[in-house]
Amino acid sequence: MSQLTIRNVNILDGTGTEAFYGDVTIEDGRITGVGDATGSVTNNTTEIDGNGLHLAPGFIDTHSHDDGAFFRHPGMEFKLAQGVTSVVTGNCGFSAVPASAHIDSAKASGGILAGIQAGFTDLEGYFKAVLQNMPAINNMMLTGHNTVRSIVIGHEQRAPTREELRKMRALVEQQLEQGSCGFSTGLIYTPGKWSETEEIIELASAANQHNALYTTHMRNEGDRLLEAVEETLTIGQESDVHVHISHHKSAGQPNWGKVRASLERVDEALKLGQRVTLDVYPYTAGSGRMIEYFNLEKINRTFAEVIQLASCAAFRHYEGRMLVDIAKEEAIDITDLVKKILTAPGGEKTICVHFIIDEKDIETNLAHADMMVGSDGIPDLRGRPHPRLFGTFPRVLGKYVRERGILSLPEAVRRMTSLSAETFGLQDRGKIQAGYWADLVLFDPATIIDTATYDNPKQEPKGISLVVVNGNIALQNGQHSGAGAGKMLRYRREAFG
Ligand code: ZN
Ligand code: CU
Repeated sequence: MSQLTIRNVNILDGTGTEAFYGDVTIEDGRITGVGDATGSVTNNTTEIDGNGLHLAPGFIDTHSHDDGAFFRHPGMEFKLAQGVTSVVTGNCGFSAVPASAHIDSAKASGGILAGIQAGFTDLEGYFKAVLQNMPAINNMMLTGHNTVRSIVIGHEQRAPTREELRKMRALVEQQLEQGSCGFSTGLIYTPGKWSETEEIIELASAANQHNALYTTHMRNEGDRLLEAVEETLTIGQESDVHVHISHHKSAGQPNWGKVRASLERVDEALKLGQRVTLDVYPYTAGSGRMIEYFNLEKINRTFAEVIQLASCAAFRHYEGRMLVDIAKEEAIDITDLVKKILTAPGGEKTICVHFIIDEKDIETNLAHADMMVGSDGIPDLRGRPHPRLFGTFPRVLGKYVRERGILSLPEAVRRMTSLSAETFGLQDRGKIQAGYWADLVLFDPATIIDTATYDNPKQEPKGISLVVVNGNIALQNGQHSGAGAGKMLRYRREAFG
């Protein structure tokens, strides 16, 4: 029986209450005691002196695209180093399952699902395959609309027939039965953007049958943000499902400040009893598949001017550089540069970083009580990924809690732990409480901070000294243990396997 005692710590239990001093004892992966552990030590107990640092439940990344990273990077160093012990995958309408032998879902997702290995068709198959790699952290999965639609309709710009809609719903239901936490959309992406609201309502109703979630990268996050919020709330009402708005923002300078109106609308819905939650990443730049943001017939110059390239298989030497600088250097028009990149072989896989968000809006978002934290990191480590992949959680605690005072430390931790666990159905996780799984992070609130920047994004944060996953030490003093103790989680049920 493996035992672990962490002594001499300030415990932030994840519920939002102030830290209290004590010890935490762990046995066989679960927390057995919180408080004074004097006398409970046996010979096979590993003891760690916490030196008065803060111990919190492991952070939950509610918005990840790590479906493929579980194969390509099972050590998940970029998440563990932030104190993240669980991620929610399958976001923005792209999920590793369901899968079909006829569809290359990594390609269909424009690289967002890069790394997934073939050989499975459903959630259980995916879980089995991932577990063979001994993943370092836990995984809870959404079922993606774009993925399901590609399998049933392919890349056709039309509404599904009744039979096709029935097939799509059956695929969503199969994943939910196997433990998926809900249905996700990415309504700016193909093929999701070709769907009408009715199609989404029908599929979100499947999530309702399992009391699961509908999460959405909404149809518009800029000029028509408020209309998109309206559509989202309507889908929630019609399908009677809990809606979760992903990476809430107002994109583009003319729209800055609109998040206030959007959150007011969410508050109204909450008052009327609708279930609504959100997540945000703490950066002023977004990131995604570049090809999705441009109409090649009519290239948006203003948008091109705020782009930095993250990964660009066609022109590796462009990675990390702003398009304006490359265009100047090559003495070509920026719109021609966009065309050149996107039409080159492999150019459609280009991932860009675009500076489109107002700093004030991030603070407005983080001040909202139902706002969780999600990195939205795209785990392509070859280029220069958006720094959110490495820095999101320490950045919230260092910059927005300590430096800016936007929210208190216990409240920030609640929004990274118990609120996320309750919403996304991570059973017995998200709190430091006897009986809960021992997913833990030990950090110094006075020094915790991200170090990843846009120019140098692959940097692990500072101020985290210990991360425990399911009772096993995963990271200690900068050393990844390779314990591989992550589990594949099922919505409000015991983990798989
Ligand atoms: Zn998204
Ligand atoms: Cu996303």
